Amino acid sequence: MEKFIIKGNTPLKGEVSVNGAKNAAVAILPATVLINGKCRIENIPDISDIKRCIDILELLGAKINIINSHEIEFDCTEIKDIEIPWDLTKKFRASYYFIGALLSRFGHANVGFPGGCNFGSRPIDQHIKAFEALGSKVVCEGAMITANADNGLKGNEIYLDVVSVGATINAMLAAVLVPGTTTIENAAKEPHIVDLANFLNTMGANIKGAGTDVIKITGVEELKGGATYSIVPDQIEAGTFMIAAAASRGDVWITNCITKHLDPLSAKLLEMGVNVEEADDGERIHVWTDKRATKANIKTLPYPGFPTDMQPQVAVLLSLAEGTSYLTEGIYDSRFQYTEELRKMGAKIRVEGKTACIEGVEGLRASQVTATDLRAGAAMIIAGICAEGETEIYGIEHVERGYEKIAERFNALGANITRASEE
Ligand code: EPU
Repeated sequence: MEKFIIKGNTPLKGEVSVNGAKNAAVAILPATVLINGKCRIENIPDISDIKRCIDILELLGAKINIINSHEIEFDCTEIKDIEIPWDLTKKFRASYYFIGALLSRFGHANVGFPGGCNFGSRPIDQHIKAFEALGSKVVCEGAMITANADNGLKGNEIYLDVVSVGATINAMLAAVLVPGTTTIENAAKEPHIVDLANFLNTMGANIKGAGTDVIKITGVEELKGGATYSIVPDQIEAGTFMIAAAASRGDVWITNCITKHLDPLSAKLLEMGVNVEEADDGERIHVWTDKRATKANIKTLPYPGFPTDMQPQVAVLLSLAEGTSYLTEGIYDSRFQYTEELRKMGAKIRVEGKTACIEGVEGLRASQVTATDLRAGAAMIIAGICAEGETEIYGIEHVERGYEKIAERFNALGANITRASEE
């Protein structure tokens, strides 16, 4: 069992560069299935979810040329229409993007159910609704999802009942090679949706409106590839460093980011009395403070609202803020499991339904805690950096699904994190 040991109470100082966005990359890699030819992708984060995408692409018969840890060439010209077993798909959420991509390419997909972080029920009814609207039959049996379009697929209107990142992406993937026009209404607007559309358009697709709530896809016969694409910077990773800077009362420059994507967080940090300044045409952001933040009320919402994927990290900052804050989860049924771990460190958090009431304390104390999921793990690291004493974090494989070299990068900012194995 691997764990992080953090010697805490260190203000973070220095500069950190943001990697490519995990949630864009895990959609763009499955999208290569649609391309009849080679493509080169840059700024891919070196994280375990990407390795799992590559395992699936290799199973399908893709030719993969790893140029370096962040640049890969893909050639899916000769991939086969074969089943993707649950053993491979259950390890991460984005494995379900292979359903949309394979359905568009072959009119058929047989893919295991996805895994991912446990936030209570995570239905896929909107994905199925999108596939069915395009003319596919969908059967969920055992651990497998089978989509079949025996009579071919045809463009159609898809109205999503809930704003879903995954369903928007799967509907886009499924529609790219389908004759006619597909409209996705009530689409999600996250930066990674725009990034996937930009990637597909670079490879020859015809997608308009990504980033608004109506996306229009005109089917093309083929994606020829032959191009290079660089993945957008990860706004959640950037936000994690911003919150860590504020919570540790440090002084950090975050580079290689798109500050516009960070607006929902920057606005909250400013409201909490933390200094935030953008520079270099929105490519760098400076976060610094030498005092406790003040309380704030936050509700997570689809983009451009405050991201649910920064909810656990900001809970650490609110735990150390002056006054009582209310943090409401607006996306998932259950994303507060980590609060029990923070309580072990002295945080005063009471959860009632979808709201956490957080009474700020002067300091946190070291403890043995578990990363209950990916972003919860990032929150534990921030808490460990701020706490007095030596914190041990278990379950770090969750963190490594989504953050590249996280310990090394925090250490470069002055943290003291070591990795250790335990029998
Ligand atoms: N929903 C439905 N039916 C569906 C799909 C979603 O009811 O068919 C509901 C969900 O239960 C949830 C809401 O809609 O209440 C939004 O879920 P969404 O589909 O947007 O989430 P997702 O696609 O499963 C992605 C990210 C998550 C991130 C959410 C919200 C990926 C691989 N995952 O998940 O990222 O929390 O969007 O922004 O892109 C993370 O990176 O740590 C992470 C969990």
